[in-house]
Amino acid sequence: MVFREVVTDKDIDEVVKIARPIWLEHYSPIIGAEQVEYMLENLHSKKNIKEEIAEKGYLYFLIEEAEAIGYIGLQIREEELFLSKIYVASAARGQGVGRLAMDYIKSLARECDLRKVSLTVNRNNANSIAAYRKLGFAKISDVCFDIGGGYVMDDYLMELEF
Ligand SMILES: CC(C)(COP(=O)(O)OP(=O)(O)OC[C@H]1O[C@@H](n2cnc3c(N)ncnc32)[C@H](O)[C@@H]1OP(=O)(O)O)[C@@H](O)C(=O)NCCC(=O)NCCS
Repeated sequence: MVFREVVTDKDIDEVVKIARPIWLEHYSPIIGAEQVEYMLENLHSKKNIKEEIAEKGYLYFLIEEAEAIGYIGLQIREEELFLSKIYVASAARGQGVGRLAMDYIKSLARECDLRKVSLTVNRNNANSIAAYRKLGFAKISDVCFDIGGGYVMDDYLMELEF
């Protein structure tokens, strides 16, 4: 498995392409089809990912085996690595990809002298919360984000110190 940095427009197209089935399948039961569409058209769009990389210092990586099986988006902050996105295709879940991805993310943090990874996760995303706990994350607080379009994200802030 490799973690290939997203650099070109074509790479971003690949991220956008694998985001859609993951989001439709995983999040429709959690937040509803309409909000999923809104998230895909905004937060997971080519335009937004491009802006995050070019203007906000985000790094994206495709998780690849024979083909792309997931992706990661993160931002190096002053005191922590913020893990904005980690998505593994449903057929590849539960087989250790997430743990390997987290090892890679921690290695990136270490390179920047950081020892903390933070993320936010939907409060009803029970499977992923369970996986994060297994990976050593602890819930820090409840957070709520207004993401426009009349939608809010009711999340937990979770952190891993290592
Ligand atoms: C969350 C996610 C990235 C984890 O990736 P994954 O490849 O399934 O994770 P792994 O198979 O490496 O599992 C990591 C650990 O969590 C555990 N785990 C995974 N799913 C679990 C579940 N539903 N319940 C309990 N433990 C779980 C595994 O047993 C493993 O622990 P171990 O290494 O001690 O055995 C992946 O499931 C995913 O993409 N989910 C859907 C999208 C999503 O919600 N992303 C997060 C957005 S905030």
